[in-house]
Amino acid sequence: MKFFIDTANLDEIRQAHELGLVDGVTTNPSLCSKAGVTDIDAFHLQIKDICQLVQAPVSAEVLSTASADMVAEAKKLARIHEHVVVKIPMTADGLKATRVLSQEGVKVNVTLVFQALQALLAAKAGAAYVSPFIGRLDDISHTGMNLVEEIMTIYNNYGFETEVIVASIRNPLHILQAAMAGADIATIPYKVMMQLIHHPLTDIGLEKFLDDWRRVQQA
Ligand code: E4P
Repeated sequence: MKFFIDTANLDEIRQAHELGLVDGVTTNPSLCSKAGVTDIDAFHLQIKDICQLVQAPVSAEVLSTASADMVAEAKKLARIHEHVVVKIPMTADGLKATRVLSQEGVKVNVTLVFQALQALLAAKAGAAYVSPFIGRLDDISHTGMNLVEEIMTIYNNYGFETEVIVASIRNPLHILQAAMAGADIATIPYKVMMQLIHHPLTDIGLEKFLDDWRRVQQA
């Protein structure tokens, strides 16, 4: 299972990358604004810097909503770096844009997917990636992980090559369940990625090992 980091913050990406935990990056307009990226030039520069740092797929989202504008914007984004994957929202216009871009060799990540049939449409349109948002479903008392399981079944049934990025992750359990469901990728916020490393019994165990060793040295 690949781990993407779900942030536009370069420091977070750098730290996770140093731990060898970054197989790719996903951003969205909210994450960019949180990282202090406030205009289009700064956005393009940030995406370029992220690509150069990780040398792996980096999703950058279009801001247009009409398909022709999405296609034009996506092409500009794709020219920033060979690792750019264009994020397109799951709308009728988004679907049209996905088809055009995929046919022209631009990699598309169809985002804001909340229903397995939306994921089927994205795959049929040629998307390289699809992003089901599980945390936002959990937030409204739906079991987000059911969506991932349904998408995996459908994609396996028909041999689609579209990779499933489990998105809107809120806690380590989401990642465990995504791995159990056989999802290709989890895109993980920095805080949750750090939670994966730690366990209180690891800390207690290490402290005890070192204490025992120190005691023998002093005897
Ligand atoms: C990533 O591709 C998504 O944009 C992101 O995971 C959404 O997360 P959120 O629901 O916490 O905003």
